[in-house]
Amino acid sequence: MSSSLALSDSPSLISPRLGQVALDRLPVKLGVMSSGSGSNFEAIAQAISDQRLNAQIEVLVYNNPGAAVNDRATRWGIPSMLVDHRAFGSREELDRAIVQILQTAEVDWVIMAGWMRIVTPVLIHAFDQRILNIHPSLLPSFKGNRAIEQALEAKVKIAGCTVHIVVPEVDSGEIIMQAAVPVFPDDTVETLQNRIHIQEHLVYPQAIGLAAQHSRKQVPQTASEMTV
Ligand code: GAR
Repeated sequence: MSSSLALSDSPSLISPRLGQVALDRLPVKLGVMSSGSGSNFEAIAQAISDQRLNAQIEVLVYNNPGAAVNDRATRWGIPSMLVDHRAFGSREELDRAIVQILQTAEVDWVIMAGWMRIVTPVLIHAFDQRILNIHPSLLPSFKGNRAIEQALEAKVKIAGCTVHIVVPEVDSGEIIMQAAVPVFPDDTVETLQNRIHIQEHLVYPQAIGLAAQHSRKQVPQTASEMTV
């Protein structure tokens, strides 16, 4: 099965189901973190452009020079900042630099979209309960690296992706949204990854809207909002 697989040919189960997320106030300001290709970054930018997500990407943070995600940001006219992890002495130092960029950009939510570094409490506490990650498995199965390989090795018949809140324990925070896909007997890492990617691009923009909507309900920002 190829990456050009039509959406209608790609069976899935998505929960909570896709629908309109009402974010009728100011757009949510996002900072996106990505390490590589950036297809999820692209899907989020496209959802914003299509007005399926009331948000704005203030800045892209990427850590690998030459990563394709930076070209995508340029095409969308979104500012990007390279923080090459090789130039930092520790994970904490790297995260301090990232926090500074994200705070300067005044982002509301941090969106890890293919960020392939473990993040530390320096970042997690600076944006407590306001960092989302997408992981290519049905958590809590197959945490950590090589999630798709792990799923194939375990011979599971259903795989998928999960959007969750980032907490200090890797791939463990509250689950916001999941999509499940079948695993076929002849699947390779690439074919299964392509099937999962299609679902990631559907659920991530929606999950961002859901998470932002939920947190706005919890923290009324003005007196008038408290009566809504
Ligand atoms: C996505 O499949 C995402 O789930 C995965 O990296 C890919 C990035 O693709 N993330 C992780 O494995 C994090 N542990 P993209 O760069 O095309 O968005």
